[in-house]
Amino acid sequence: MKNNDLSRRKFLQSSSFGAVSVLIPSIKTGYTRDEMKGMEREGKIPGNISKWDIDTPALLLDMDAFERNLKKMSEYCRKNNISFRPHTKTHKSPIISKMQVSSGSIGICTAKVSEAEVMVKGGVGDILITSPVISSYKIKRMMELRKQTSGLMVVLDNPRNIQDLSDASVSNKLKLDVLVDINPPGMDRTGIQPGKPAVELAETVIKSEGLRFRGIQAYAGNMQHVHGFEERRKRNLKCMETAAETKRMIEKEGIEVEIFSGGGTGTYNIDNYVQGFTDVQVGSYIFMDVQYLAIGGKDFSDDYYGDFEPSLTVLTTAISQPVKGRITTDAGIKSFAMDGPKPVLKDITGVSYGIRGDEHG
Ligand SMILES: Cc1ncc(COP(=O)(O)O)c(C=O)c1O
Repeated sequence: MKNNDLSRRKFLQSSSFGAVSVLIPSIKTGYTRDEMKGMEREGKIPGNISKWDIDTPALLLDMDAFERNLKKMSEYCRKNNISFRPHTKTHKSPIISKMQVSSGSIGICTAKVSEAEVMVKGGVGDILITSPVISSYKIKRMMELRKQTSGLMVVLDNPRNIQDLSDASVSNKLKLDVLVDINPPGMDRTGIQPGKPAVELAETVIKSEGLRFRGIQAYAGNMQHVHGFEERRKRNLKCMETAAETKRMIEKEGIEVEIFSGGGTGTYNIDNYVQGFTDVQVGSYIFMDVQYLAIGGKDFSDDYYGDFEPSLTVLTTAISQPVKGRITTDAGIKSFAMDGPKPVLKDITGVSYGIRGDEHG
């Protein structure tokens, strides 16, 4: 390659990141069991290998634990007369979404339009997008998706967005189902203030031509990891009461509030005591994580949350012992989520795991 081939302009052009080009990722939905079996027959992937022959670092899913988690959530919800609408930000896999739907969920949640596209392509149609969709580019993509599934819903929290979504729906000859997103006290991520402002927003939706008001969302993410079950129960019920009261106020105006959605893995067995609550948006319960395991549970101590089992682990190999008291593995920053507590070792005690760089632990 000649030196001038390495110009910035050429780099931008060839890598599609130029100012005028838009990168539209192709949608990958994973492989079904049959496709995997087909690849195994064609010799593209090895079959019937032991866990100890898997190349590392590798992400492993313990299917027994995973299926017990699926079953436990669905049984809890069935027995306690609430529905669940799992948040798929945990896995982003249509295959897992379908297993959740088969286990009894009334649909799924995604955080954004692109995740919903993957789910629709993978055959899942009942989707709530749990963050407002704002830009005209994303609204257009969402409308295309709505044409493919009438089960698509989105939350909104401001009048300007009502207008934009309604206009887009009308010009596509569609009715889009929406929930008013309410900001539970202290959460402050998305959502309109509970009470009168939320009631007025619901009334604006009702008056809009292209939208259908289905209910409310109140996601109290700030309550999910409150330490100790009793403390979490008290604080979550108080926090969610603001949304329950808003629901009653909307209903007083003669507007039906069919859906009251929110909550997560930390409050799934508390939210069903919130008046009028309909469905819990549990995400992490299928895999669990180190942070959740420490929040304390109803039937456990304040330091252990054993309602669901950790099913997702990283398999790593000890590659060196550079000094006494330290073993280096092949799993570092690129193998773990880095925004929570440090990884913990499975079945090995008296040792802690630290990250030593991109590829080393
Ligand atoms: C809107 C919303 N609902 C539900 C969840 C799922 O929560 P969890 O993984 O704690 O069950 C999340 C997670 O961040 C979320 O953002």
